[in-house]
Amino acid sequence: METVYPETNLLNLTNIRKSFKKTGGGEHLVLDGVSLTINEGEIVALLGRSGSGKSTLLRIISGLARPESGEVLYCGKPVTGPVTGLAMVFQSFALFPWLTVLENVELGLDAMGVPQAERHRRALAAIDLIGLDGFESAYPKELSGGMRQRVGFARALVVEPTLLLMDEAFSALDVLTAETLRTDLIELWLERRIPTKGILLVSHNIEEAVLLADRIVILGTNPGAVLAEIKIPLEHPRDREAQAFRQLVDEVYALMTKRPRGVAGKVEAVPLSYRLPDAHINQMAGLIEALAGVPYNGRADLPELADRMGFGVDQLFPLLEALGILEFAHTEGGDVELTPSGKSYVEADILRRKEIFAEHVIRHVALAAHIRHVIDERPGNRAPEERFLRELEDFFSEEEAERVLRVAIEWGRYAEHFAYEEGSGILSLEDPESATISA
Ligand SMILES: Nc1ncnc2c1ncn2[C@@H]1O[C@H](COP(=O)(O)OP(=O)(O)OP(=O)(O)O)[C@@H](O)[C@H]1O
Ligand SMILES: [Mg+2]
Repeated sequence: METVYPETNLLNLTNIRKSFKKTGGGEHLVLDGVSLTINEGEIVALLGRSGSGKSTLLRIISGLARPESGEVLYCGKPVTGPVTGLAMVFQSFALFPWLTVLENVELGLDAMGVPQAERHRRALAAIDLIGLDGFESAYPKELSGGMRQRVGFARALVVEPTLLLMDEAFSALDVLTAETLRTDLIELWLERRIPTKGILLVSHNIEEAVLLADRIVILGTNPGAVLAEIKIPLEHPRDREAQAFRQLVDEVYALMTKRPRGVAGKVEAVPLSYRLPDAHINQMAGLIEALAGVPYNGRADLPELADRMGFGVDQLFPLLEALGILEFAHTEGGDVELTPSGKSYVEADILRRKEIFAEHVIRHVALAAHIRHVIDERPGNRAPEERFLRELEDFFSEEEAERVLRVAIEWGRYAEHFAYEEGSGILSLEDPESATISA
């Protein structure tokens, strides 16, 4: 039986699943059970951590990649290849340096078989619309980043897309340039100067999502599935300082820092507890100290903290996750709070800090404890790092396994649970025996 969707649905994704082959064999499941609808007249923002599969999902929507299972309907029709009426703007601008602005924009119409004269006319109109008038014959290298991205937008808008996809379109731009371009885009959209009926934008930036979107969809990791959806019922233009705005930003922060346990009821205990976020010791120490000090006194509002420390979401989240794993601070409801151990850590001197850290690593970091255990058991108390890499690759991609092991080694070395020889990649007890740690 054929499912009939109401005409107002621009896009329907049902149960999308996608995995990639790992180089060493096996599969890396990136998206699993993703369902998402975009209605006519809507701007939807897709948020999620790095690696959650946002770009992969956009590629699937635009027909550039095929899902393993699940259904993609664009305007009610199944997507089986590149889709017309759909355009994408990339973070990297993706312009051809040897073509002028005009030629780059005309390229957007190349695949559609539009006659030359009309191509020319439409490209000029798009250039005008996005505020690039007078730069038609310039080459990309003569333009600033903001102007280049305007070319990226003109090339997308020239096809008069029904659905516009944006993959972190503003994140390579400086703060002011990004804001101007966002404002211009929203103005075109609200004044209906573009025939576009829906926008799906991928972002790392929570404020950007709250500023632009009517609805925010949060994609989880391991594997990516929709974790939460939140409506943004604010009128445009939106005031970042307004209380309702701040409250929504807080809510999204809270949803994104919720422990991913129990998602879709399929969490494998071992690999997840082995996964470690990218967090360096000195960054963690710095964050614990900042939290303990004025004005936070042990507890901080995340957006405020990110703002004050000049952190992007991608820098802050791994640190918060690390402090959570190590039981130094817990994040809940958009706030982070130091644990009693976190507070003792701040009050301790350097040597004692190291001891506290060491105790927490062995107690709470399953992978570090596992490495130490294996080294203890092995003859000569030595183990090559490949041994652990191979183990981790059962759960993670090769790249991710290397990353996770590197973090475990950094934390374990600093805690003096084991030593590591850079050249040979041998993990051993050589150094730790002089500084015994009661684990
Ligand atoms: N062609 C591919 N082959 C193998 N693995 C891939 C491929 N494309 C993506 N991946 C993997 O899939 C996962 C999701 O990648 P994707 O680029 O979709 O994430 P993302 O959410 O867009 O991340 P970011 O926020 O960093 O852009 C990553 O682990 C990535 O390494
Ligand atoms: Mg991406």
